[in-house]
Amino acid sequence: MSTAISPTAYNYKVVRQFAIMTVVWGILGMGLGVFIASQLVWPELNFGLPWTSFGRLRPLHTNLVIFAFGGCALFATSYYVVQRTCQTRLISDSLAAFTFWGWQAVIVGAIITLPLGYTTTKEYAELEWPLAILLAIVWVSYGLVFFGTITKRKTKHIYVGNWFYGAFIVVTAMLHIVNHASLPVSFFKSYSAYSGATDAMIQWWYGHNAVGFFLTTGFLGMMYYFVPKQAERPIYSYRLSIVHFWALITLYIWAGPHHLHYTALPDWAQSLGMAMSIILLAPSWGGMINGMMTLSGAWHKLRTDPILRFLVVSLAFYGMSTFEGPMMAIKTVNSLSHYTDWTIGHVHAGALGWVAMISIGAIYHMIPKLFGRAQMHSVGLINAHFWLATIGTVLYIASMWVNGITQGLMWRAINDDGTLTYSFVEALQASHPGYIVRALGGAFFASGMFLMAYNVWRTVRASNAAEAEAAAQIAIVGAH
Ligand code: HEM
Ligand code: HEM
Repeated sequence: MSTAISPTAYNYKVVRQFAIMTVVWGILGMGLGVFIASQLVWPELNFGLPWTSFGRLRPLHTNLVIFAFGGCALFATSYYVVQRTCQTRLISDSLAAFTFWGWQAVIVGAIITLPLGYTTTKEYAELEWPLAILLAIVWVSYGLVFFGTITKRKTKHIYVGNWFYGAFIVVTAMLHIVNHASLPVSFFKSYSAYSGATDAMIQWWYGHNAVGFFLTTGFLGMMYYFVPKQAERPIYSYRLSIVHFWALITLYIWAGPHHLHYTALPDWAQSLGMAMSIILLAPSWGGMINGMMTLSGAWHKLRTDPILRFLVVSLAFYGMSTFEGPMMAIKTVNSLSHYTDWTIGHVHAGALGWVAMISIGAIYHMIPKLFGRAQMHSVGLINAHFWLATIGTVLYIASMWVNGITQGLMWRAINDDGTLTYSFVEALQASHPGYIVRALGGAFFASGMFLMAYNVWRTVRASNAAEAEAAAQIAIVGAH
């Protein structure tokens, strides 16, 4: 069947590719999460080999879920949203294709090098310099495609979702390039250009803003498009979204020192990080409320629409983790929570509850549209996925709260004579039941991803190339 592609149609090919890879990397990254969670229950699963040890697989897990799964979801949705809201095709098909293949190459590079032990040792920035340079080139190309498309838009204004995507792209480039400044000594090893406390500060300025701009701002761009679309309601307040945008991006950048409480970092910098983190609650909740209130008059849809449920529950977890974060940034609270599983619980309240849930909702929304189908193959399977994901997230974070507070209290308990009440091993033993529950919760969440893969596969299989191309054609003349 001939599939003549009109140059006026949207470029859905690259969106489809990134959307499918989101599911693939989601399964791999979360599957690996379940595996390392199981290693903490049954250490024999380290197999006594360096390549399969927890220390090497943990950074692979974080790279796969953040950059492969989260990154592909952000690429897919931003390319989709920017075309539809600007009513124009991406500025360059070949550059967009380069970002797809380049990004997959970086991920494959991570899968090979991290288990082999090649790492900068900086968290979330582990990739050694050749891969870091490739990543920078891909990212700059992404910026060119995204902003280039905005410049040739057919609409007058720039929809607020694009502001969030735009900030995420610009700031991620800045963070990555500054934090990766290093001196290579061989093809596989480099040393940071910074040293001591300065290195730590740069690293956590990067690390925190990776959370703020990669795991938050980009996904807020997603929220501003997909929540109104799925609810079929306009965003609650456009004015609030503008205030939300400027407040969020001006505040986030200062909060990094809350990762370095009670360290060699100057005390004033720690206190500044704490104060900024507490203020950050306001814009975070402003955004959450804007998303939630968009459902005014459409709450009944939650009864029948599991995609909307994914999106709304993700906002609830976003609200929860952005309340918890500012509390943990208070120095006295942090003296209890730091180094414990409480941090891990907080991370996954954001990562599973917010980042993964909103991505899953957005992908379910897009897949039928990208492949010219009326809806996903099975709404029942989306519903089952929703419950697996929600129960899995709750099991994960509740067990980590219990573990975290138990560990913090046991570590600080002191006898009358000043000696420690508990040994480290005793605290570890007390954590064991929590680790079992966490592995179970993770398995729930990951099995939902298999249902998703099956549902996506059936939907894609039912579509043919002509139908899919027609979808891109029709979309451009339809409403955005
Ligand atoms: C099935 C789902 C998942 C499971 C079972 C899981 C499990 C784990 C485990 C066991 C760790 C190591 C904890 C430790 O060192 O004590 C971890 C770390 C981490 N995971 Fe996951 N994970 C899952 C999904 C995700 C997702 C979807 C994301 C991000 C979008 C994510 C982001 C992270 C991050 C950032 C860390 C490092 C946390 C820190 O250093 O404080 N995880 N995960
Ligand atoms: C207002 C918003 C937030 C604030 C103020 C905040 C604050 C914090 C604090 C104080 C820590 C513990 C630092 C430590 O003791 O080492 C932390 C860790 C972390 N948070 Fe948040 N958080 C916020 C939102 C989020 C969200 C929405 C996510 C995920 C999507 C997230 C992901 C993380 C990660 C990955 C870490 C672990 C970093 C590491 O040590 O490897 N945070 N956050």
